[in-house]
Amino acid sequence: MRAFLWTIATMTERFSPKFIPVVDLRAGSLSVPASSLVAANSMSANGQVSDKLGRNLRDLRISVTDRCNFRCNYCMPKEIFDKDYAYLPHTSLLSFEEIVRIARQFVKHGVQKIRLTGGEPLLRKNIEGLIEQLAALRTLDGNPLDLTLTTNGALLARKAKALKAAGLQRVTVSLDGLDDAVFRSMNDVDFPVANVLDGIHAAQAAGLGPIKINMVVKRGTNDQEILPMARHFKGSGMVLRFIEYMDVGATNGWRMHDVIPSAEVIQHIQSELPLVALEAASPGETAQRWGFANATGAHDRAAGEIGVISSVTQAFCSDCNRARLSTEGQLYLCLFANQGYDLRSLVRGSATDEDLVSAIGHIWSGRTDRYSELRSAMAADAGTGGRRVEMSYIGG
Ligand code: GTP
Ligand code: 5AD
Ligand code: SF4
Ligand code: SF4
Repeated sequence: MRAFLWTIATMTERFSPKFIPVVDLRAGSLSVPASSLVAANSMSANGQVSDKLGRNLRDLRISVTDRCNFRCNYCMPKEIFDKDYAYLPHTSLLSFEEIVRIARQFVKHGVQKIRLTGGEPLLRKNIEGLIEQLAALRTLDGNPLDLTLTTNGALLARKAKALKAAGLQRVTVSLDGLDDAVFRSMNDVDFPVANVLDGIHAAQAAGLGPIKINMVVKRGTNDQEILPMARHFKGSGMVLRFIEYMDVGATNGWRMHDVIPSAEVIQHIQSELPLVALEAASPGETAQRWGFANATGAHDRAAGEIGVISSVTQAFCSDCNRARLSTEGQLYLCLFANQGYDLRSLVRGSATDEDLVSAIGHIWSGRTDRYSELRSAMAADAGTGGRRVEMSYIGG
């Protein structure tokens, strides 16, 4: 069912009472017209903006398409994302120029990392052109951004070289198992695992590293793949991360029973491959790091490390520095948000760069989101209700 939009009289506390949020049923979200912020007291950028919980903005994730060539059950279940599903029309998508203009204003507020996501970002036509423009941006200290992309790897073998040439630094590849039957059934389009492995090798050969591999672990579906994956990527120079299956969106039928807590994953791997806990590499990191241990119990650097991302059992909201820009230019402050801020209407209107900077600054300064922490405080199976944005719409 294609978005039908209507206005409701709900107000949000941080904005002027003239606000008329718009409801977009397809995305399952409220949209706050950011244009309402332009008239408010103007805010400039000084390279650092804190939210209400003292968290600085550092990481911008940009979704460049809401389409994907996979139908992973935990993200875009076939029954919903079928041939009749109404994806965004081309005119709704931010153009590359619009994306880059918005990204530039975020950088003024201290963003240092940009991740391109989807859907599947490699499906966006001429994505290399966007990467080229983003790669030219510089932080306030004059450094290049950490520019990366999350992909399912299906098109990577074909595109790795061009992505590198365009200025992409690294990639993260989603891979939920090595067993071909398990993998085909999880992507639900019968895509062979060998092609993704080819894509990963092409990315390695092109120098798109350090490569991270993301595996969403779902009980009874791919838990038998945990050890084979750990063995496979040990010593490869790539960092495999095990992700707790999350209650994101409203379509995947999430149940707490299907979540394998990271502690269990670590215990399982330790039964064969000893691990040692490592320090976080940077503040606000999603993953807890574990190194493969040598015979003396110390970290064996050549064997490398794994990570666990425990957003269900050990929420990491307290230093969450991530903002998300949807395919159609809505700014989301949390993966679990049900409300976005309409930056597209600003860039398609008469807003100046200063207006954009001011709007972004005001929006981030008012942020209080910490969904996963609140969810952990609720009953074990709570958190599945309500209207929430889909991950394929704002990106992981
Ligand atoms: P690196 O900089 O490469 O370490 O990336 P990252 O871990 O910050 O980002 P990535 O997109 O690889 O995140 C991996 C997974 O962690 C995502 O697919 C989500 O499942 C989860 N994740 C990422 N960011 C968040 C977040 O802000 N909140 C929650 N709850 N989960 C997140
Ligand atoms: N739980 C955890 N991670 C998810 N992703 C998508 N849906 C979920 C979910 N329900 C993440 C995976 C995937 C990336 C594109 O998004 O990491 O690799
Ligand atoms: Fe596509 Fe990634 Fe979602 Fe799978 S998890 S359906 S590959 S966007
Ligand atoms: Fe950040 Fe929201 Fe994820 Fe918490 S749940 S870490 S606030 S995106």
